[in-house]
Amino acid sequence: MQLPRRILAAAAAVLATVCLAAASPAVSYVNPLIPQRADPHISKQSDGYYYFTATVPEYDRIILRRAQTIQALASAPETTIWRRKASGVGSGQVWAPELHAIDGKWYIYVALGVSGQWKIRASVLEGTGTNPLTASWTEKGVIKTNWDTFSLDATTFVANGTRYLVWAQQEPSRSDENSSLLIAALQNPWTLRLPAVAISRPTLAWERVGYKVNEGPAVLQRNGALFLTYSASATDANYCMGLLTASLNSDLLNPASWTKSPTPILTSNAATSQFGPGHNSFVVAEDGQTDLLVYHDRGYRDIKGDPLNDPNRRTRVQKLYWGADGKPEFGVPVADGETPVRLRAAAGGFVRYDNGTGASGWLPETLFRVVKPGLAGGTTVSLEPGSNPGVFLSRGQGRAVQFVRNGTGGSAAAASFERRAGLGDAGGVSFEAVDVKGEYLRLEVGGKVAVAGVGKGEEGLATFFLE
Ligand SMILES: *[C@@H]1O[C@H](CO)[C@@H](O)[C@H](O)[C@H]1NC(C)=O
Ligand SMILES: *[C@@H]1O[C@H](CO)[C@@H](O)[C@H](O)[C@H]1NC(C)=O
Ligand SMILES: *[C@@H]1O[C@H](CO)[C@@H](O)[C@H](O)[C@H]1NC(C)=O
Ligand SMILES: *[C@@H]1O[C@H](CO)[C@@H](O)[C@H](O)[C@H]1NC(C)=O
Repeated sequence: MQLPRRILAAAAAVLATVCLAAASPAVSYVNPLIPQRADPHISKQSDGYYYFTATVPEYDRIILRRAQTIQALASAPETTIWRRKASGVGSGQVWAPELHAIDGKWYIYVALGVSGQWKIRASVLEGTGTNPLTASWTEKGVIKTNWDTFSLDATTFVANGTRYLVWAQQEPSRSDENSSLLIAALQNPWTLRLPAVAISRPTLAWERVGYKVNEGPAVLQRNGALFLTYSASATDANYCMGLLTASLNSDLLNPASWTKSPTPILTSNAATSQFGPGHNSFVVAEDGQTDLLVYHDRGYRDIKGDPLNDPNRRTRVQKLYWGADGKPEFGVPVADGETPVRLRAAAGGFVRYDNGTGASGWLPETLFRVVKPGLAGGTTVSLEPGSNPGVFLSRGQGRAVQFVRNGTGGSAAAASFERRAGLGDAGGVSFEAVDVKGEYLRLEVGGKVAVAGVGKGEEGLATFFLE
């Protein structure tokens, strides 16, 4: 059925108002952020600095960096605040530190091993001093849990006034599995109120490839819910992220309060050349409102030998989008280089990569990298789909667009635009065709992307907000 144009235009205007109110600004980072740093944890502390800590490939120390911006962490000097000891717990592997400020002191949750043994235990350091890079650290020891078994990846959060710890641990009753996720309330930063309860186990096929693993929990509270991401399977290209959700009105110590997503929410992606994404943390961008996903992966799929001996897991950061249903949308690990953005038309809707198979509603199809310079060089830009890097949006036949590879047919000019102030709102942006003056990128009512002239009253179709 064809709706009258008038009704569609009115609907678009309402949508535009709604979308404007919910505008979510674009952010820009260059990936990978930091080479050879796995299990990345970035936090913004009350002194205004961003702090970074992560696992180093030598597994022998805890490092910290700090900077005024997340991108600046890439070149910030690194301070070693703790080194592997001669004997006992702390003489072996040093994995996945996290920095937290609790009641005026600094705490680092870190998994520590014993030299020559496969004996890893979640442990705590306490730091005093205003600056964690120069604080003095004391060991508060291994966190006492239900059992003295393989335990790691502790993280902490406060919900409804109670501070919780979530971590990964091998359950003695499930000896064929590597680790489950456990939760307990904290009595103080290094002491749990036991018993802890398991809220997730590696029971689904995608959690059991190579090893049977649930680990690396990270918690985000938004929209009345707790979103708990975790990582599953072996730490090679099979590594991926899952999601548990609980209502903030529920008893978090009751496993029934947690719902597991039946499919992983972030996996390897051959199109973007990202493999084994996982062990994430969440942080808010410099704008104070945009949620970011921080995680590691590798830039290649195949590894020789034990993945733990391959040093090239690297720290990455990308925007976390939110669906209209209030749930996070993870998309895919984005390609290396500058992070992509969404192009929301002032009249409503997103520019979408459509290769002829039809739009699926999948977030990555709405992500584009605004590449500078564009294929035509100079001041031009080209639009490269986040789901399919290597092709560029180009003028096709008539008003239609197509996607062309750099240098393989189609002219560079047809795939290049000049960035202009938005025709319908100077706060937005319009993209004028390089080779046909007066023709602009448009998102037609109904969602088709076009390049054509813009008549009076149509400016909103050719004006975009980058999100
Ligand atoms: C997982 O468990 C198996 C069997 O106990 C063990 O050989 C392996 O080292 C474990 N892997 C990890 C990553 O914990
Ligand atoms: C939140 O905390 C209050 C006060 O401690 C308590 O009465 C209430 O049961 C808690 N709510 C949940 C869902 O745990
Ligand atoms: C078209 O896009 C869909 C969704 O991204 C993808 O599954 C399919 O492989 C693509 N087809 C081609 C020919 O690129
Ligand atoms: C397009 O290809 C040319 C020649 O290989 C290269 O110099 C240029 O950087 C490419 N542009 C983009 C945007 O990929």
